[in-house]
Amino acid sequence: MSEKARLHYIYDGIEEHDNRLPNWWLFILWTTIVFSAGYWFWYHIAELAPGQLGEYRGEAAEVAKRNADNKPASNEMLLALVKDPGTVGNGKAVFQANCASCHGAQGQGLIGPNLTDGFWLHGSKPMDIHKVVAEGVVAKGMPAWERTLGAERVRAAVAYVLTLKGTHAPGGKAPQGEPEQP
Ligand code: HEC
Repeated sequence: MSEKARLHYIYDGIEEHDNRLPNWWLFILWTTIVFSAGYWFWYHIAELAPGQLGEYRGEAAEVAKRNADNKPASNEMLLALVKDPGTVGNGKAVFQANCASCHGAQGQGLIGPNLTDGFWLHGSKPMDIHKVVAEGVVAKGMPAWERTLGAERVRAAVAYVLTLKGTHAPGGKAPQGEPEQP
């Protein structure tokens, strides 16, 4: 206890002094404060790295994708793939390489119908879209893709098409078919 410590009060002969906190203690205090401010900024404001929730979502999507590879496609599975940025990214690449020539780079429609307008010739459910892409509508000029692309890339392309729904790409082809059922 330093000599300079100010006497705070005496009670029952017990003295309480106003001591200066030791430097090592202050160092830890200020370090944790600076760290928490940095942490808060990094994860919550600038979002430079995924937080706990982001990591959980990433892992959940990863698992959904792994399970999906071994199971027949379903509405739930395809909707889960829509939430996986990796799959949607692959689907976009598949779309640009194989589908854009007929459906346009934004899915706005060229030879094939507009995929962004909320109108569907063959239904808007994920499995309706999956069926058209996998089996095609060969008589109407839509090729069947399951054999050429394989199940995984067809699913990725369908996931990407599902993200185009309702984006109403500018300069789109006039609607064909029925409006999407809620
Ligand atoms: C050679 C041109 C062509 C290519 C390439 C093509 N499509 Fe199509 N697509 C069509 C045509 C034409 C139709 C409309 C079929 C009909 O009238 O029933 C269609 C229909 C569709 C539909 C149904 C739309 C609706 O309104 O129900 C989807 C979904 C679709 N295509 C996705 C794709 C995807 C994904 C790819 C790439 C893997 C692809 N298409 C490649 C020509 C093409």
